Amino acid sequence: PGTGLGVELVSIVNKLQDAFAVVGSNAAQIDLPQICVLGSQSSGKSSVLENIVGRDFLPRGSGIVTRRPLVLQLIHKPASASSTSATPKDADKSTNQDEWGEFLHLPGKKFFDFTEIRNEIVRDTEAKTGKNAGISPLPINLRIYSPNVLTLTLVDLPGLTKVPVGDQPRDIEKQIRDMLMTYISRPACIILAVTPANQDLANSEGLKMARQVDPEGLRTIGVLTKIDLMDAGTDVIDILAGRVVPLRLGYVPVVNRGQRDVDTNRPINIALEKEREFFSSHPSYSSKARFCGTPFLAQKLNNTLKAHIRNTLPSIKANISQQHQRVSAELQAIGGPIVPGHSANVLSTVITEFTTEFRTIIDGSNAGALSLN
Ligand code: GDP
Ligand code: NA
Ligand code: MG
Repeated sequence: PGTGLGVELVSIVNKLQDAFAVVGSNAAQIDLPQICVLGSQSSGKSSVLENIVGRDFLPRGSGIVTRRPLVLQLIHKPASASSTSATPKDADKSTNQDEWGEFLHLPGKKFFDFTEIRNEIVRDTEAKTGKNAGISPLPINLRIYSPNVLTLTLVDLPGLTKVPVGDQPRDIEKQIRDMLMTYISRPACIILAVTPANQDLANSEGLKMARQVDPEGLRTIGVLTKIDLMDAGTDVIDILAGRVVPLRLGYVPVVNRGQRDVDTNRPINIALEKEREFFSSHPSYSSKARFCGTPFLAQKLNNTLKAHIRNTLPSIKANISQQHQRVSAELQAIGGPIVPGHSANVLSTVITEFTTEFRTIIDGSNAGALSLN
């Protein structure tokens, strides 16, 4: 949870959403974008998503492991009063009662053990697609309720592939492309374009596809995985500097768990510590270690989400004021007094306070983080 999407953003967005809930307003909602991973098979997409969420629950591995889209809805739910689980240490335990998962296809069944969540993803994937590399556009819908997350949707997707294997049809390449297109072509989708650092960036299928739907690069973040597997003496500095395939929002290099770590169930917090050590001690990256790794990727995502919210706020305000005018007009028509503390007034006060607080946070805390872009 410590590396996940910032506590600061979680608290301000939730404050606003709580305010809407109190006054029962449906007209104004912050519609947060979906975050999708895009890239070739085994580039590390599931590993990246898992690190962002900060919990171990996604099937990962060499070969085609993710064979159906996983639509992961994170839902912020305040910790229950009786709970003593507020510390990050406790949040890492897999049986924390404030954090659980629920599948759409198994309504009412709460999964408190994240290993069981992973087992269920594998089981239902096989139930719908067989065991022999079959794929399906039928999504698995999983909700995770937790006090440590921002209410947000992340989508894990199968990887781009060219050659059919196992039970895959001959047009597998097209089928996967079409499936990915339905997700990444939505304007509210933030694309994490994942490319392994030991492959040629210029040939990255994920980047090419991202450019088709987002030619301006306004919602594509480049993620370079497997930095630890690069040949000695080589690095991704040219890519980070925008000298290879420039990307407006830039690239973030990361080190995820390797296959041996997967096989030995290396826990996420240890893997993140290892990632931090890798960058801070590497001759090419040590001087820019704060622009490397999962925490910086999460920060970049935060900034992108904040930009989205900032762009959305004016229309939310307009909605609120329209709603206020309509309600006032109705009250006039029935001859009733405008009661002091009317909910729309309360709401616009909250919005104004929110906007101020939001600006302070945006302008105050992230100036340095963008300097590599
Ligand atoms: P996906 O198919 O794109 O979802 O990729 P996965 O997340 O399943 O990872 C594919 C394989 O690559 C697994 O064996 C991972 O352990 C390994 N892997 C992913 N990222 C890295 C990385 O940064 N370093 C190393 N050494 N291995 C990685
Ligand atoms: Na894989
Ligand atoms: Mg995967």
